[in-house]
Amino acid sequence: MKVLANIGQLATCGAEGGQGDAHVISDAALAWDSSGRISWAGPQKNLPEACATAERIDAGGRLVIPGLVDCHTHLAFAGWRADEFVQRSLGRSYLEISRSGGGILSTVRATRAASEDQLANRAKGFLQEMLALGITTVECKSGYGLDEENELKLLRVYRRLATEQPVRLVPTFLGAHVVPPEFRERRGEYLELLIERIIPRVARERLAIFCDVFVEDSAYTVAEARQIFRAAEAQGLRAKLHADQLTSGGGAELAAEVRAVSADHLECISDGGIRALAAAGVVAVGLPLASMYLNQSALPARRLIEAGVPVAIATDFNPGSAPSFHLPFALTLACTLLGMTPAEALKGATINAARAVGLQHAVGSLEPGKQADFAVLDAPDLDHWLYHLRPNACVMTGVGGVFC
Ligand code: NIG
Ligand code: FE
Repeated sequence: MKVLANIGQLATCGAEGGQGDAHVISDAALAWDSSGRISWAGPQKNLPEACATAERIDAGGRLVIPGLVDCHTHLAFAGWRADEFVQRSLGRSYLEISRSGGGILSTVRATRAASEDQLANRAKGFLQEMLALGITTVECKSGYGLDEENELKLLRVYRRLATEQPVRLVPTFLGAHVVPPEFRERRGEYLELLIERIIPRVARERLAIFCDVFVEDSAYTVAEARQIFRAAEAQGLRAKLHADQLTSGGGAELAAEVRAVSADHLECISDGGIRALAAAGVVAVGLPLASMYLNQSALPARRLIEAGVPVAIATDFNPGSAPSFHLPFALTLACTLLGMTPAEALKGATINAARAVGLQHAVGSLEPGKQADFAVLDAPDLDHWLYHLRPNACVMTGVGGVFC
């Protein structure tokens, strides 16, 4: 058994109590057993007798939070698109750039040309830096391969990284990101390929847990996505959606209809979409870095929270709309752009994010029985951490009780 003692503030982030209740305990301690599971969390003065002889690690009066969960990333890709960042700053839109052959398709070209080793080495470097920010679980999508060989290549990168480094990975199949260029005039055939061949193979080889579709005028229609989700569900892959990002197209309503685990983006969600998510218990994932980089108004987090929808916050890390994996910065943006409090934002990147990847029973809060995944932050309290946003506030990250 080990004990992290002398914690100034411990935000345990249990699910109960709503979005704003981070369950903060002052002068706390956290104990875990040899299997890396939490055995006790509470005020240090109440530390059980059984912990008296355990090895003690001193948190130095700092803030301790659950390991952050980034529940939406496009982690493995080749190349960057800084040129598009410049073009957008000069007034060109994301869609104009995509229509002229840039955007997602430019990353598809680079990713198809890269080897599995190259992609894995680069993604591994990103994960190391994420860990140093306090991130311990990362959802990672395919979607820059858009054919059988290259989509599987990306998912194999994730399978390999899951054993080669400490961050927990949750792989998602996003073969329906956009329509691949070679199928532009015959999109029905690509849909058939996804449904008849690629999805069954991804499921058979256990390469993904979730299936995501970009539901948007410029990508897939609601009717196409419905077909894909039906096929995925039949193979045991639960739905996630890129919904209502650039236009309001019934994405959130579809997420509710197919009982998706999450609906992500939602910058343009309709009132009916908000009601549908609330009724179906779908997590709304806000991606404020993408809203900021594309100069869009962010999702209506306050209205979602008021309607009873759990809101998660993630980075959307990808080379186009969100080229940063700085989840703490995304949380600060959640406060400034989405009108969330630091406590609401933190629950968005812990317990609600864990729910958005189906891992709420194992990670996302510091409660007995869960994994001892935590970050020690050199900040006096939660509010100060997201307000000051020091570049190296995270001084220690633990995954399954092991300091990384
Ligand atoms: O979540 N919206 C679709 N997909 C990504 C963007 C990917 C890209 O621009 O490369 C997103 O924003
Ligand atoms: Fe995305």
